[in-house]
Amino acid sequence: MSARIIDGKALAEQINAETAATVAQLKARHKLTPGLAVVLVGDNPASVAYVSSKDKMCTRLGLHSERINLTSTAGQRQLLQLISDLNSKKEVDGILVQSPLPKQISEEAIFAAIDPSKDVDGLSPINVGKLALGDPTGFAPCTPSGVHQLLLRSGVAIEGAHVVVIGRSHLVGRPVSLILSQKTPQANATVTLCHSRSKNLAEICRSADILIAAIGVPRFVRADMVCVGAVVIDVGINRVEDKTAEKGYRLVGDVDFDAVKEKASLISPVPGGVGPMTIAMLMHNTVRAAKLRHEIA
Ligand SMILES: NC(=O)c1ccc[n+]([C@@H]2O[C@H](COP(=O)([O-])OP(=O)(O)OC[C@H]3O[C@@H](n4cnc5c(N)ncnc54)[C@H](OP(=O)(O)O)[C@@H]3O)[C@@H](O)[C@H]2O)c1
Repeated sequence: MSARIIDGKALAEQINAETAATVAQLKARHKLTPGLAVVLVGDNPASVAYVSSKDKMCTRLGLHSERINLTSTAGQRQLLQLISDLNSKKEVDGILVQSPLPKQISEEAIFAAIDPSKDVDGLSPINVGKLALGDPTGFAPCTPSGVHQLLLRSGVAIEGAHVVVIGRSHLVGRPVSLILSQKTPQANATVTLCHSRSKNLAEICRSADILIAAIGVPRFVRADMVCVGAVVIDVGINRVEDKTAEKGYRLVGDVDFDAVKEKASLISPVPGGVGPMTIAMLMHNTVRAAKLRHEIA
């Protein structure tokens, strides 16, 4: 058996088309252009690439986009001042601070300073709390929301399924476990959240109907960790050396794709799986933030 491969690009394009249509309506009916500010501190090559793809997507979908670059030596006070300015700027509906931040800046302090109504990546304590409480008025982080949409739009039955998530980060693993265990018909999964101290990891993974890998270790999930017919979602993005590639590296996920696809029923590839969904959800959340701020139904 060889798995059906999820086309994350095509699914993301569905969401982007919905977002672009909403943006066009907001402009025509309410003279409102939703705006996203993306803040980059330093010049980490992966972060630079993420930030420019977010910028390009804003332009493509008709959103107002602001990109603010601070040097890698910027201090916490400077960034906090910038966040405060963006919180009160009327053209800005969503604020995203690209992580990782340099060591001298506390990510917790920065995320806590973002106005929760503009926190479109759902990392401020208020939005994290709302997700934990099952309060749908908050914003959930974009990558976990993208995983949820990937499953829903691929027709996967989440309700009652055993979902195993490997990785418990605030950015991916923990919020994906909260999203999929919500008491709603679109979730209602039984979730097991694993991490580096989990015992019998392979055995737990084999009991998963849906296995989600968010670890950051290339090809960590082997075929013997997956049961026949499972749905496998690979969140990992890892650079591995490849002298034959133009850039000298290529991207692989946390799943040994070639081996696992022979056992799974459905699998997301890297690249072209979760990645495009993350940006699509960021655009979606920004438009939702604009509508909420302007009290548009
Ligand atoms: N597609 C996207 O848009 C997107 C977005 C964000 C991240 N990512 C990718 O997703 C991956 C995870 O990102 P992250 O930010 O969640 O990483 P992270 O903060 O480093 O967290 C990694 C998690 O994996 C767990 N882990 C590490 N080694 C393990 C092992 N041997 N066995 C079991 N668990 C292990 C860690 O456990 P402990 O908690 O015990 O340390 C931790 O909970 C990375 O490859 C990242 O690049 C992709």
